[in-house]
Amino acid sequence: MSNSKKKTKIGLLGAGVVGSGIVKALQNHPYVEIKKIGVKDLSKSRDLNGGGNNYSNLLTANLNEIVSDPEIEIVVEVLGGLKTAKDLVTSAIKNNKHIVTANKDLIATYGAELFDLARDKNVQIQFEASVCGGIPIINTLKQTLSANKFSKIVGILNGTTNYILTEMLNKNLSFDACLKEAQKLGYAEANSANDISGKDAAYKLAILASIAFHERIKIEEVYTEGIEKITPLDITLAEELGYRIKLIGLAKKEPDEKIDIRVHPAFIKKTNTLASVFGVNNGVLIEGDLVGELTLIGRGAGQMPTASSVVGDINLLVAQLSYSHEAHPQFVCQHTNYAKIMPIANTTNSYFLRVQTEDKPGVVGQIGTIFGKHEVSINALTQRSVNRDGSASITMLTHLVKEEKIQGALSEIKKTNAVKQVENVIRVLE
Ligand SMILES: NC(=O)c1ccc[n+]([C@@H]2O[C@H](COP(=O)([O-])OP(=O)(O)OC[C@H]3O[C@@H](n4cnc5c(N)ncnc54)[C@H](OP(=O)(O)O)[C@@H]3O)[C@@H](O)[C@H]2O)c1
Repeated sequence: MSNSKKKTKIGLLGAGVVGSGIVKALQNHPYVEIKKIGVKDLSKSRDLNGGGNNYSNLLTANLNEIVSDPEIEIVVEVLGGLKTAKDLVTSAIKNNKHIVTANKDLIATYGAELFDLARDKNVQIQFEASVCGGIPIINTLKQTLSANKFSKIVGILNGTTNYILTEMLNKNLSFDACLKEAQKLGYAEANSANDISGKDAAYKLAILASIAFHERIKIEEVYTEGIEKITPLDITLAEELGYRIKLIGLAKKEPDEKIDIRVHPAFIKKTNTLASVFGVNNGVLIEGDLVGELTLIGRGAGQMPTASSVVGDINLLVAQLSYSHEAHPQFVCQHTNYAKIMPIANTTNSYFLRVQTEDKPGVVGQIGTIFGKHEVSINALTQRSVNRDGSASITMLTHLVKEEKIQGALSEIKKTNAVKQVENVIRVLE
């Protein structure tokens, strides 16, 4: 491509945190020109100056004008949300525009429909920033590592929950106290329900798994558990046992070709690279047959790391458009079949269990008998303390066992008089 080539015109939908970062990152770009910027509220004050330009005069509140502009070749969607984003992206594709989006909710929820439409119209949808912000994970899976057959992806995919768990570890504070601090510092939104519940990580994991395994994933089939029940005591006990607690997203191809896909808190060995991903950082470990194990770590959100991924996608499209407006098949989603998902009850894990019991002889034997009946084998057991109310706190680590067996054993021990409460059950990542 030479500098004399006319610049590719893009339309930007959204000029919030990410959108204004994209405007900054695109200043003085040799091959790209922003033609219009769509927002909701034209009266809002925003910093869109830079590189000797004032981009404010490109603002419009009529976003349909952007997706139908014949001069615009690439529409960049950084609005967030579902309905408006989906309608506008759909119109843009119908008008033969290529799409770049940072919207994971959109891709995980309507990806199948949008990719089908894009394939029919021979345009591309690039979405690097939708998963792990600044970490180049999607194009790494789709292109750089495309020679591999992937067997596993494990990731710390949500910065808010990783920040909270890191603070709980470092300051021995409660989940609620760390959430409040994260909100004060702007690392968690006022409504952080999707982060805390694991839903945000599930969206991202579904996107990664569908790329890695070439099958579509229904988001509602991804087993999802959040970090609300993790206590400082769980974190301390994990440390003592040589583990850290992280909210992980795991997707694994099983021998029967089903996909074991889930998001939940997990004990991770301290020696695992992901155990050292702290604060708002994200990390993704990939296992490919040729490359082996590979881990990418970096900023999973934030204005400029996210803009870095969006502009990388724009550059990729511009480079291809210099050869042809038509999308190369390698960059178009080709798979249309849905993955068969392994139910959580059929997965195999070892477990950390924290149980409150009566402090009486025979209690441990009683638990052991019930566990034996359900084929749950205990790897380590410690009676930690006798509480003020006379109850005892017992922690256990089990050997590998099927989830339905451990659940069966737990519901049976809950019914005994000896067990007062099953306080927490956390899967251990092998
Ligand atoms: N923030 C991050 O670190 C990050 C990281 C990775 C991915 N993402 C994704 O990037 C996307 C944008 O996030 P953000 O943090 O930049 O959001 P944001 O700060 O809330 O910005 C959203 C922008 O879209 C505009 N907008 C929203 N709804 C609109 C509507 N119905 N009509 C017209 N304009 C509308 C807003 O206009 P006004 O300015 O007039 O309100 C605003 O400019 C989301 O999908 C998010 O998940 C964000």
